[in-house]
Amino acid sequence: MTDEIVKIDGVSKRFGDTVALHRLDMSIRAGEFVTFLGPSGCGKSTTLRILGGFETPTTGRVILNGRDVTAEPPNRRRVNMVFQDYALFPHMTVRRNIAFGLELKGLTRPQIAARSDDLMGFLELAPLADRLPDQLSGGQRQRVALARALAPDPDLLLLDEPLGALDAKLRGQVQAELKSIQRRTSKTFFFVTHDQDEALTMSDRIVVMSKGRVEQVGTPEDLYFHPASRFVADFIGETNLIVGRVASVRGDEVALDWNGQRLIGCAPRDGAPVEGGTVAASVRLEKLMLSETRPDLPNVVPVRIVSKVFKGSRTEVGVRVDGGDETPLRAYVDTALGHALGDGQIWAGWSADAMAVLRD
Ligand SMILES: Nc1ncnc2c1ncn2[C@@H]1O[C@H](COP(=O)(O)OP(=O)(O)OP(=O)(O)O)[C@@H](O)[C@H]1O
Ligand SMILES: [Mg+2]
Repeated sequence: MTDEIVKIDGVSKRFGDTVALHRLDMSIRAGEFVTFLGPSGCGKSTTLRILGGFETPTTGRVILNGRDVTAEPPNRRRVNMVFQDYALFPHMTVRRNIAFGLELKGLTRPQIAARSDDLMGFLELAPLADRLPDQLSGGQRQRVALARALAPDPDLLLLDEPLGALDAKLRGQVQAELKSIQRRTSKTFFFVTHDQDEALTMSDRIVVMSKGRVEQVGTPEDLYFHPASRFVADFIGETNLIVGRVASVRGDEVALDWNGQRLIGCAPRDGAPVEGGTVAASVRLEKLMLSETRPDLPNVVPVRIVSKVFKGSRTEVGVRVDGGDETPLRAYVDTALGHALGDGQIWAGWSADAMAVLRD
């Protein structure tokens, strides 16, 4: 990769009997916003700490800007970290917090003042320059932590659940702000969260992890509409899981027998399923169309409505194949349409592209 800034090459980490990471391989481009997403204990922080130099991998190498830094301490890497609790110095003003890393680097006073002023202007902190951290709001503290981490001009910024302490509303605002700062600075951000919405909103690419392994890497759209595994389909967003028997595989088109119906879906990118085997497929709720007239789609199933849950502008409608006893399929429909749909038999339809057949 040409503008590769970070390469993680076969990195594993063991703590005694615990294998926190299994042979992680990954390449990151300069300027990317990459998010590590996964449940508690899956190895997100461990990966970040290895990149930052706070932890040594058991095997493998970390290459930063073409240089092997695996054995180098944090201060020899052009990397900085923002922690969940921000770890601001409570007895120092905003200005001194930001200047601290620059003093350590041995810059002159005028250089330090110029750089701090720049960052405070950029992050709209200038009016707060003389306040102490406990005189700031959560979002303001977050901006100071970010300014402090950006001050020494690192190549890579590591952010370990930096928004965890904020309430839902502020969190949304700060997410947008953080993303905009990342765009404007063109810095490479490595962000950790266990919140899938946050990952979908902010990332150029998401790395979904489970138990120390990478489940899937892709753009938010990729992961959402083409999850490779059941874990990813379940972890990201709401979905219908359809479990059927593989009738045939042609190229990336997979025919499934399900409930007496023939369905067409698309194969996972990393390998076609075996004919005759049982597989699961994911269909997102908003991809399932309901109508009283038979739609012109490759997957069309006669159904009856079994539930309606009002969710504001849209309604979640549960449907079941006429006479079937399987778990109902769920669809999001416009609330007006939801009201209009009657009790008789209707049609559920979806495209082949909307049905992602999952690995294993
Ligand atoms: N210093 C350590 N000593 C022993 N085990 C550790 C150490 N650090 C992490 N682990 C273990 O390694 C695994 C991965 O931990 P890690 O902190 O990377 O998870 P995480 O994905 O960041 O989880 P969370 O979302 O809870 O922060 C866990 O099983 C954890 O208990
Ligand atoms: Mg963690």
